[in-house]
Amino acid sequence: MLCRVGYVRRCAATLNPILGAVASRQKHTLPDLPYDYGALEPHICAEIMQLHHSKHHATYVNNLNVTEEKYQEALAKGDVTTQVSLQPALKFNGGGHINHTIFWTNLSPNGGGEPQGELLEAIKRDFGSFQKMKEKMSAATVAVQGSGWGWLGFNKDSGRLRIAACANQDPLQGTTGLVPLLGIDVWEHAYYLQYKNVRPDYVKAIWNVVNWENVNERFQAAKK
Ligand SMILES: [Fe+2]
Repeated sequence: MLCRVGYVRRCAATLNPILGAVASRQKHTLPDLPYDYGALEPHICAEIMQLHHSKHHATYVNNLNVTEEKYQEALAKGDVTTQVSLQPALKFNGGGHINHTIFWTNLSPNGGGEPQGELLEAIKRDFGSFQKMKEKMSAATVAVQGSGWGWLGFNKDSGRLRIAACANQDPLQGTTGLVPLLGIDVWEHAYYLQYKNVRPDYVKAIWNVVNWENVNERFQAAKK
């Protein structure tokens, strides 16, 4: 049986390098925050950051690992039905891990202000001004029905910046093709303890801690 599993894994790796990587990869781990839980106060309080990172993000990571393990077993057995049935969990927990990993680096206690250089020029070209981009992204983010994310993304085909909204934990690139540059999490776990039901106030405040250096790095990488 072990030989058969090994054979199947080798075949999977040959036929599909991504699935092969799944079969042999290490487990996903919760990344450290690049700042303290209280570092984004008063805009995002320490209690929100601690729960959001150590509980919510950690749960996506754990459930992603469980899902991938089940997927790996199904793959080894040639059980396509189970593989298909695991897709929603993979999308939800994989998306949750991808989105939050980006989100933490999009924020900084030294953030806020405006982007510089090429990113600012691209924003002006595609939205008219930085202020207009902020207004458009804020409106799209506040308008997310239920839980989801607002995004500034990059369309590699057109070379243009785009605003998008995603439901649940749908990852931007995996579901729209846009490369994620800046995400705003509008799940209630991201703001309710501090802002209660007033999502617009949270979205307004988060601009004070946006790490434009990180957004610009993502923009430069996306253009290559
Ligand atoms: Fe979140």
